[in-house]
Amino acid sequence: MYRVLVTEKIPFTDYYKDIDFIYKPENMDSHQWLMESINDADGILITLSDRIDSEIIDAAKKLKVISTYSVGYDHIDVKYALSRNIKIGYTPDVLTESTADFIFGLIICIARRICSGYETIISNKWEYRWKPDFMLGHDVYGKTLGILGLGRIGHAVMRRASGFDMNVIYYNRTERDVNGHVGLNELFSRSDFIVITLPLNDETRNIVNKDLISKMKKTAYIINASRGHIVNEDDLYNALLNRDIAGAALDVFDNEPVRADNRFVKLDNVLLTPHMASASYETRRDMANLALKNLELGLHGLNPEKYVNI
Ligand code: DGY
Repeated sequence: MYRVLVTEKIPFTDYYKDIDFIYKPENMDSHQWLMESINDADGILITLSDRIDSEIIDAAKKLKVISTYSVGYDHIDVKYALSRNIKIGYTPDVLTESTADFIFGLIICIARRICSGYETIISNKWEYRWKPDFMLGHDVYGKTLGILGLGRIGHAVMRRASGFDMNVIYYNRTERDVNGHVGLNELFSRSDFIVITLPLNDETRNIVNKDLISKMKKTAYIINASRGHIVNEDDLYNALLNRDIAGAALDVFDNEPVRADNRFVKLDNVLLTPHMASASYETRRDMANLALKNLELGLHGLNPEKYVNI
């Protein structure tokens, strides 16, 4: 029997008869629990909320595989784990389309103020009949969409943009076989919507800072459903406060969960969602299946179906 530590409830585990799944007690800190329990574990099944650092890896004596229920793996010390011959499985592809749907939803909601409209009604502020200048936002169709990081999700956002007759430009470290590649400064100065679809790593941390934000049009928006740390939150906050840009739709933050006393909540030009871009039943089912398949292969000493290799 393989011994596997699991930090969140996951479906479909009954299928795996040779794995003993041991769940983290609800109110226990995951780092502490992993430190205390990982000594004789063969595998761990984690999420992006669990930090797997060298301390945890050193405490593991037989660990064969880390399977994360996420496409991002910035929470894992990948280099160190790989140097210890621990395989790392992750869940790309299966969440691409639902994440792109959500990003497109954010674009439309922030530009056309859909959530503000809802808030206006529930807070009883719809006091007038129809007025020509009530709840005005910006159009989406025909605008310039700038994609920062043209990977799987960036491509899926790009496909959706063509249905809105948008002009799409992108920046990627290496130019892709697609028209529209521009430099970083040009991406920020020309775009009406900047969509961030970069992974978080040493090169991308804080890449969106006041230098780039200052290049943006006053009518432009930032949409981030990738990782909070890619954007310098202080710089973004100041730009929004001073109305240097039109707004931001944020699904990810430096420190999650975000509570109601967060400074962004007080701004009227933001749309905030709780890291939910991949949260559809179908996608979470597919992520669970892939994370389990990755785990099983890793336990058997094989490469996971989708594995991290740097
Ligand atoms: C991921 O998988 O990394 C996303 O942030 C959540 O699905």
